Amino acid sequence: MRTLFAAALGLAVALAAGFRPAAADDTKKEKPEIEVVYVPTKPEVVKKMLVLAAVKEGDTVYDLGCGDGRIAISAVKDFKAGRGLGIDYNPERLKDCEKSVADAKLSPEQQKKLTFKQGDVLKMKPEDFKDVDVVTLYLYQSVNVRLKPVLKEGLKPGARVVSNTFSMGEDWPPEKTERVKAKTDYGDTEYTVYLWTIKGDKK
Ligand SMILES: C[S@@+](CC[C@H](N)C(=O)[O-])C[C@H]1O[C@@H](n2cnc3c(N)ncnc32)[C@H](O)[C@@H]1O
Repeated sequence: MRTLFAAALGLAVALAAGFRPAAADDTKKEKPEIEVVYVPTKPEVVKKMLVLAAVKEGDTVYDLGCGDGRIAISAVKDFKAGRGLGIDYNPERLKDCEKSVADAKLSPEQQKKLTFKQGDVLKMKPEDFKDVDVVTLYLYQSVNVRLKPVLKEGLKPGARVVSNTFSMGEDWPPEKTERVKAKTDYGDTEYTVYLWTIKGDKK
């Protein structure tokens, strides 16, 4: 009974956060251990995440589970990031990224700054984050918690991590929490965005 309740609560939280069951086009080559369904971050929330992370000219911004690539593209186009990276396990999402790049009317220089690749974020290593200034997340808390040690070890002091909706668990409290309203098919929805900065002692 308790398990059933926990499952129902998990589903309710996921639905409240805008998550819906995976679409039929979600053809995967290799399913990750924890599968987060695809829900694009609303444009208002993308902006809030990148502002909260204080993305500045020349920064490298890495969106883990990049969906259609909108966060990395906005980082390069609107915030002058030097590099926008995205990784997603689902090849369909990488096709979406190609389309997003085409639709974004980027200059050839901006296009060169973007890289999207297929891969499982749960298999990423600390060295994958060596030159990264900002990591953006819209994954489940259970995935964030799994990524936490890799991010702490791999990111340099001063690097920022921002997450839409899901925190990092109790032992890594966010240094800032902000709310932003966005229009959805279900009316105005309030989203929570969290910020962490990597400290010199990596704590
Ligand atoms: C909620 S969507 C967020 C998409 C995008 N970051 C955004 O905010 O618009 C989560 C994305 O992560 C991808 N994903 C889920 N689990 C993953 C994993 N273990 N490794 C790589 N990508 C993953 C999904 O395919 C989906 O595109």
